[in-house]
Amino acid sequence: MNTIPSWQYDEMQQIGKDYGSIDEVEAYDERHGKFRDVQRENEEILQLLAATSDHAIIEIGSGTGAFAIQAARRCSRVYAVDISRAMLAYTKAKAEKADISNIEYRHAGFLTYRHDGPPADALVTNTAFHHLPDFWKGIALERMHGMLKHGGLLYLSDVVFDQRNVLQNIDAFMTNLERLAGPGIRKDVEDHVQKEFSTYDWIIEGLLERAGFCVVSKNLLNGVIGRYLCRKE
Ligand SMILES: C[S@@+](CC[C@H](N)C(=O)[O-])C[C@H]1O[C@@H](n2cnc3c(N)ncnc32)[C@H](O)[C@@H]1O
Repeated sequence: MNTIPSWQYDEMQQIGKDYGSIDEVEAYDERHGKFRDVQRENEEILQLLAATSDHAIIEIGSGTGAFAIQAARRCSRVYAVDISRAMLAYTKAKAEKADISNIEYRHAGFLTYRHDGPPADALVTNTAFHHLPDFWKGIALERMHGMLKHGGLLYLSDVVFDQRNVLQNIDAFMTNLERLAGPGIRKDVEDHVQKEFSTYDWIIEGLLERAGFCVVSKNLLNGVIGRYLCRKE
């Protein structure tokens, strides 16, 4: 279907955190730096993707651009896709400062981005997929499958739950983040679980497979952070 149905989920709305706000965008890197080693995370992703200088990579939910910029240093072209104009502007300013000119910026999301370049070698989405309800995750994965070349790779990382001990795991996750990043983070995680759409690993895996992806590797850290490397079949 080429046109967007009137009943399509409105992915431009901000659910939970407001990533459209400049204050939130400017605070994001510092807050996440307290509990993530983002540079190392991104290096690991690029290694898993075996990224090379002739690769084109799409990132959906690119946020402040940390991955897009790191990937642009390694690859021929990066498409940074986000529903937040503030996030895209922030990324663009950072990239220009670093003299990086091979990033295409697209104001769109999982359900609305139309890839107009050649099929991509890889697609990355990190800590963003939970913004879609499960039905729409299925539609989004089919769309992502269509953006990749045959054999292309999808790296999907997000808050994903192992159903065993799920409530205890979420509580331990909150306590650990609070220890690393201070008391404010607990409310963020509470809002995430209460208002956003993180789901079980078996749902994500069923959706990936039905969309035509083969799961090459899976890591479910502490039963709450899911990292999937998948290949387009
Ligand atoms: C938690 S941030 C993650 C940013 C970055 N990928 C990272 O790993 O830090 C989530 C990002 O997803 C974006 N987002 C939310 N819903 C989206 C959608 N439907 N399509 C694309 N991006 C979306 C938000 O604007 C925000 O920039």
